[in-house]
Amino acid sequence: MENIVSLCKRRGFIFPSSGIYGGINGCWDFGPLGVELKRNIKDDWWYFFVKQRADMVGLDSSILMHPEVWKASGHVDEFHDLMVDCKECKKRFREDQFVAEEDCPNKKHCDGAHLSSPKAFNMMLQTSLGASEESAVNTYLRPETCQSIFVNFKEVYSSARMQVPFGIAQVGKAFRNEINPRNFIFRSREFEQMEIEFFCKPEDEDSVFEEWKTTIWQWYLDIGLTESKMRWYSHPTESLAHYSSRTEDIEYDFPFGWGELQGLANRGCFDLTQHTKFSGKDLSFFDPTTQERFVPSVIEPSAGADRTVLAILCDAYCEEEVGTGEKSDMRTVLKLHPRIAPIKAAILPLVKKDGIAEIAQNFEAQLRKKFNTFYDQAGAIGRRYRRMDEAGTPFCICVDYDTKEDETVTVRERDSMEQVRMPMSEVAGYIESKCSFERD
Ligand code: GAP
Repeated sequence: MENIVSLCKRRGFIFPSSGIYGGINGCWDFGPLGVELKRNIKDDWWYFFVKQRADMVGLDSSILMHPEVWKASGHVDEFHDLMVDCKECKKRFREDQFVAEEDCPNKKHCDGAHLSSPKAFNMMLQTSLGASEESAVNTYLRPETCQSIFVNFKEVYSSARMQVPFGIAQVGKAFRNEINPRNFIFRSREFEQMEIEFFCKPEDEDSVFEEWKTTIWQWYLDIGLTESKMRWYSHPTESLAHYSSRTEDIEYDFPFGWGELQGLANRGCFDLTQHTKFSGKDLSFFDPTTQERFVPSVIEPSAGADRTVLAILCDAYCEEEVGTGEKSDMRTVLKLHPRIAPIKAAILPLVKKDGIAEIAQNFEAQLRKKFNTFYDQAGAIGRRYRRMDEAGTPFCICVDYDTKEDETVTVRERDSMEQVRMPMSEVAGYIESKCSFERD
């Protein structure tokens, strides 16, 4: 984990937020490579789950909502973790995740013997809207993106003319005042979710749940996660969230242990019923073919974008020996799927002189119109390859003396390090075919 965190900082994937002020716990900034990686993940998710499906539409709602939403959703009363205080070191911990050796500054002194009895701590972040004290409205930064999907259910299905079964997807920020943010970006206080609320007939709940199990599993494979590092975890009844009658998580084997990547929940008609009750507005669905009116059930695949980034980085990170004998060397390489790699191709002139650099620069300018590229002429070619390996760049294009003669270049593939000679005119198409969101 330390190596991954250090690579992320060194190469501009992820930094602590407000680093020059000492950072702020549970908040992270995505640097130049990180923002591209995360955006590619979110875009691919949108492509796979929304654009490619006739039964899905999208939403981008405001983060701030009417305070009644959070009463109706159950978050004001139910959205808490149990916390314990250590009377010895005066720190506060999440009860179910307290690990004395990691959490307590006194280490072995604090073996749980000095912990208070657990108290409920609401995890929503409060805020106040409006300038004057009298008119200010106290509300919350949303702790999950899905509530606005429920609240807009009627607007969406009637404007988009959707028929149940169909889903509404949203990608956006969520905020939770986590008691102990930890494990890099795994548990933070500000993060992004990629959520789907799939509305179906109550009698179809179980079959729809099974279909989504297969689909969400496949997406992780499509973006390059190793299948043997993934598993399902089925929540026992006592650990289900207040809205769920069944939840199964996809977990990933992180360097710090198995952790939740995505939850798949059966929310039944809980949310639509609650919002109908609290708002007084009918949120049922009228099926024109059967002439039936009913409150749909909801199957919810809810994924974290940041956790996906972390899983992808952990899966892709690799230190390996290359070459043999005296020429052997270690390289650090991020074996990211080309589809989500931040930079698709680096253009490297073998030498700067004799017009080679100019040819490479012009070529880079052409390719840049189609996908993310990087131009680098500094240092030995081997070291330039290594820098791109660390950034996870799948293709390095070397421009050399032969390029001047026959307009061909060498394309080096990151993982195999194999090099093929190719006409310049074919390079863009070749790389685009490898990086496309389109599946075979
Ligand atoms: N709407 C359902 C919901 O929010 P959840 O299991 O609480 O369910 C869904 O969250 C996903 O959001 C998790 O699987 C995880 O990937 C991500 N997530 C939740 N809390 C997080 C946190 N503190 N930091 C980063 N990601 C988080």
